[in-house]
Amino acid sequence: MIRAAELIQRKRDGAELRAEELAELVLAYARDEVPDYQMAAFLMAVYFRGLSSAETFALTDAMIRSGETIDLRAELGRKVVDKHSTGGVGDKTSLAVAPLVAACGVPVGKMSGRGLGHTGGTLDKLESIPGLRVELSHEEFVAQVKEVGCAIIGQTADLVPADKRLYGLRDVTATVDELSLIAASIMSKKLAAGADAIVLDVKVGDGAFMKSLDDARELAETMLELGKRAGREVVCVLTDMDQPLGHAVGNALEVREAVATLRGEGPGDFHELVLSSAAHLLALSDLDVDEAEGRRRAETAIGDGSALATYERWIRAQGGDPDEDALPAAATVRAVAAPRDGYVTAIGAVRVGVAALRLGAGRATKDDLLDHGVGVVCRAKRGDRVSTGELLAEVHAGSDEDAAAAGEAVTAAYTIGDEPPPPRPIVLDVLA
Ligand code: URA
Repeated sequence: MIRAAELIQRKRDGAELRAEELAELVLAYARDEVPDYQMAAFLMAVYFRGLSSAETFALTDAMIRSGETIDLRAELGRKVVDKHSTGGVGDKTSLAVAPLVAACGVPVGKMSGRGLGHTGGTLDKLESIPGLRVELSHEEFVAQVKEVGCAIIGQTADLVPADKRLYGLRDVTATVDELSLIAASIMSKKLAAGADAIVLDVKVGDGAFMKSLDDARELAETMLELGKRAGREVVCVLTDMDQPLGHAVGNALEVREAVATLRGEGPGDFHELVLSSAAHLLALSDLDVDEAEGRRRAETAIGDGSALATYERWIRAQGGDPDEDALPAAATVRAVAAPRDGYVTAIGAVRVGVAALRLGAGRATKDDLLDHGVGVVCRAKRGDRVSTGELLAEVHAGSDEDAAAAGEAVTAAYTIGDEPPPPRPIVLDVLA
């Protein structure tokens, strides 16, 4: 019988737990033998005390061992690539990058997560597409990567069930933004899903869990080490999350923006991040191309329509309807106007993320149902010049009351000044 209370107490008091103790706790939780309230207390103790690198490795390993693992190279007979983001606001990158890389001839097999804290999750975005299934069996996942070139699935009872349960619990207990928990959650999914080469998009700034470049580098280095120990090639790209990515924040709104980007009509910062992520993935693949050639091929796939065609094939393969008209829309749309003339110098990404969450795009408790049509569209971005009364953003809401509250929050998220802010590139650094 596991003595969860004793492990919670020792972690609370700053002790280092042994690998077998961590494994016992995590595996018992995944089997439903440790209740949520004890695991929540344990996570809070980890939040304050952190984990050593040995503990982080043990936690990741235990999470992987809570379910099955997939060896995609053995199943496909060739190299498969994967990407993951540490979480941001308006981060719909995987929805565009996965089909784009597949359209360039490189298989992508990916396990994603749901919304976490103020950040959105790829699975929630995908589930705004009518009919789409994210819970594929091991066999369905492998068959789809083989036949369609790409698949994105969720954690299941078979694949990293410990992350599925811990992820849901962290989301609603203020225990998301702890470096070791993020590293173990991401790397357990990446290592269990079996891709050989992985690009990790480590977000930095207000809307990210890592607010400074130094913290983001530390997270990147922890994940690089976990990847190296497992014999995988990993590249970490540190990217700006000081303002929402692209324009759209909210599930169906983000799907529309990802599709527009695959048509070559995406917002500048998002388009650039998609191309840069695709270029890194293609350079890691078995195509034997460098990053510059990878980027050129990704641009061609957007230009000739093959990226969009691959997206449509992928969505159909998972049971979804790729027609944009099938996506849900919010009951009401409210304009947010600029209160003065000037330049947008900042857009508080957390504020926008929380406004979208409160509209129903994210969860306050584990069992909350989402409203997939709601969210915020930030029409004006950092550096844009605006005049009084001009459109800054749109709030897509389920009711006029919700729209009014979110409108106020979004207005407060914008800072307008007299001078344009210094430019900040979307890609800040690359670590390998
Ligand atoms: N993405 C994940 O999968 N897990 C985290 O903890 C954060 C981002």
